[in-house]
Amino acid sequence: MELTRGKQLAARLHQIVPGGCHTYAKGDDQYPELAPSVIARGKGCHVWDVDGNEFIEYGMGLRAVTLGHAYPRVVEAVRASLELGTNFTRPSPQELTCAEAFLSLIQGAEMVKFTKDGSTANTAALRLARRATGRDMVAVCTDHPFISYDDWYFCTTTADGGIPRVFHDQIVQFHYNDLASLRAQFAAHPGKIAAVFLEPARLDEPAPGFLAELVALCHAEGAVVVFDETITGFRWHLRGAQGLYGVVPDLSVFGKGMANGFSQSALAGKRAVMHWGGRDRLDEDVFLLSTTHGAEIPALAAAIATMEIYRTEPVVEHLHRVGARLAEGMRQASARHGLSAHVLPLGRPCHVYFATRGPDGKPSQPFRSLFLQELIQRGVLGPSFVVSYSHQDDDIDRTIDAIDGACAVYARAMAAGKVDGLLVGPPSRVVYSRR
Ligand SMILES: Cc1ncc(COP(=O)(O)O)c(C=O)c1O
Repeated sequence: MELTRGKQLAARLHQIVPGGCHTYAKGDDQYPELAPSVIARGKGCHVWDVDGNEFIEYGMGLRAVTLGHAYPRVVEAVRASLELGTNFTRPSPQELTCAEAFLSLIQGAEMVKFTKDGSTANTAALRLARRATGRDMVAVCTDHPFISYDDWYFCTTTADGGIPRVFHDQIVQFHYNDLASLRAQFAAHPGKIAAVFLEPARLDEPAPGFLAELVALCHAEGAVVVFDETITGFRWHLRGAQGLYGVVPDLSVFGKGMANGFSQSALAGKRAVMHWGGRDRLDEDVFLLSTTHGAEIPALAAAIATMEIYRTEPVVEHLHRVGARLAEGMRQASARHGLSAHVLPLGRPCHVYFATRGPDGKPSQPFRSLFLQELIQRGVLGPSFVVSYSHQDDDIDRTIDAIDGACAVYARAMAAGKVDGLLVGPPSRVVYSRR
């Protein structure tokens, strides 16, 4: 596989862009050396790198491209909007259309405000919660790796350089599906916790009653519940994971699923909390999500079109069906190579992750890199197996074949107890860990 042009562009990127790209998760250190470095274009679930190599791609656009690359109906809607202009001195009708479309789907929410990314929306949720409760502290689920890149949250990670110590004193952590761990934090900090943040689900399903009991506990303690649906929104269910599990949070954040890769996120929730961001009182004080690009028209047009497709086509059903086929194919392929305990799918079918464990049974970056390398050699770019509406049965079959081939090489490395001689270049790294 020819990778020369991509390597040249990557070297130039590293010269002028810290990390060599604008999202660490896309970085060279996240991939094996024999990986495409720069992607030139995509169509559906296929991408072509700058050297002309074609891949079936998974987890497209960091899981933001739910329908497919260059999805025709979204492209048409955006193209039509471009003729109207992109940003005015007063609101556009698209701000209303998009808000109504969103609230018709996310039925527990009474108000919504848009911005560009999940981090900003989650930080705004915390500011609202602090204003609504008059408290400063925040509790976050320690098993969920990413809520916001802002200081209040990133101080909990190993990548906390540049964040003042004061933030560490304001945040506490609890475990998913472990109400006692949250109860203990309320007991340790009585009357201090403004908000509790968690993803309604990630790799584990909520235990029966867990989410409803969590909401009840938070309300009894006077704290605001925030569901981070950046990933689950429009992927777990048309009405969000909150619709699937039948539990309504005070606030929720949507992002990756909103606009098929265009930059659009939402902070939504109950009027009683959201109203603090309004301008109908004399003591207006919460400056809620007021950004120059927040209502950029092409992104709103993309979101309106994307939500309309979710509403009228079986998108979520498709994600679950093809994801389940892929997970089952992976299970069978790894079993054929005696790797059932080492290479295995994780999570809900609409959001398949995989474990790559070393000979000691622990997660292994060298073995993950080898697996990714061997998938890439077989035409699959899969840091995860998160599917889109464009992944068809044929793509899944080809991916299962690639997994089978990758498992054959993985099994050789397992027999040797190491990846030496099979993995080209250094193993990939993790972006950051939780403290
Ligand atoms: C669950 C979750 N919440 C929030 C974020 C932050 O979203 P953004 O990158 O749009 O700021 C991410 C990003 O990966 C995420 O996975």
